Amino acid sequence: MRTPTRRHYVMCPPEYFAVEYSINPWMDPSSPVDTDLAKRQWQELKRTYEDLGHTVEVVEPQPGLPDMVFAANSGTVLGGRVLGSRFRAPERAAEAEHFRRWFATRGYRELVMPSRINEAEGDFAWTGELLLAGSGFRTDPEAHAEAQEVLGAPVVSLRLTDPRYYHLDTALFVLDKGPRPQVAYYPDAFSPGSAQVLRRLFPDAVLGDSADAECLGLNAVSDGRNVVLPLEATGLAERLSARGYEPVMIDVSELRKSGGGPKCCTMELHG
Ligand code: ARG
Repeated sequence: MRTPTRRHYVMCPPEYFAVEYSINPWMDPSSPVDTDLAKRQWQELKRTYEDLGHTVEVVEPQPGLPDMVFAANSGTVLGGRVLGSRFRAPERAAEAEHFRRWFATRGYRELVMPSRINEAEGDFAWTGELLLAGSGFRTDPEAHAEAQEVLGAPVVSLRLTDPRYYHLDTALFVLDKGPRPQVAYYPDAFSPGSAQVLRRLFPDAVLGDSADAECLGLNAVSDGRNVVLPLEATGLAERLSARGYEPVMIDVSELRKSGGGPKCCTMELHG
């Protein structure tokens, strides 16, 4: 049986959630979104974390920023150091400053705002040893070197090649943080070289298939034992169970209309 560790998460309620513009292939502003249902799904996600014994802090949502619910995009936090974000899309740019202020109020002194496009945990995944860093659609490859300097963490750059999997966290998640880190990922979302890097680093990784990826099943959150993932990701859930993890299925239908799942809504404060 696997042992979970207590996590510290930051979330932002989908108070003003909508699909008003399209900056990824999932977003269709002409198809309706049920904001009230999104709010209930988000509450359920938050309650799930709390029931699992994790701490959730909440950032105040802002009108006019419908994607602010995707808190993972607004900061990478490692051992008390914060690297803020810089969004590619002008529609999301203002989110970075709201989160910067939240970090500042919360007393983070080592807080750096990036000079390169950097969508934070959307494209950065901390394994406890390495910072896996995605590029191809959002985060600038130069931001990887910047993250390494600011956070003092060894960075491994990975290239994403499928526009549906525009952030690293739509194609890969960390199952276990050190001492023997483990990940799950969808190989086809990566360039051949980057897929090979992942095979070398994680020869025993849990692999997702196209069905898992297409419901954003790889956008999951693990505490080392419990894995919170979209309820449609049944194949992935079975493979996780076979490896001793506990899948916790959750409905994120409304958030997926914006290209997001559980992980997108969840920033982790890594100790
Ligand atoms: N609509 C948002 C965007 O395209 C979704 C962000 C999802 N966040 C994530 N961490 N993958 O920017």
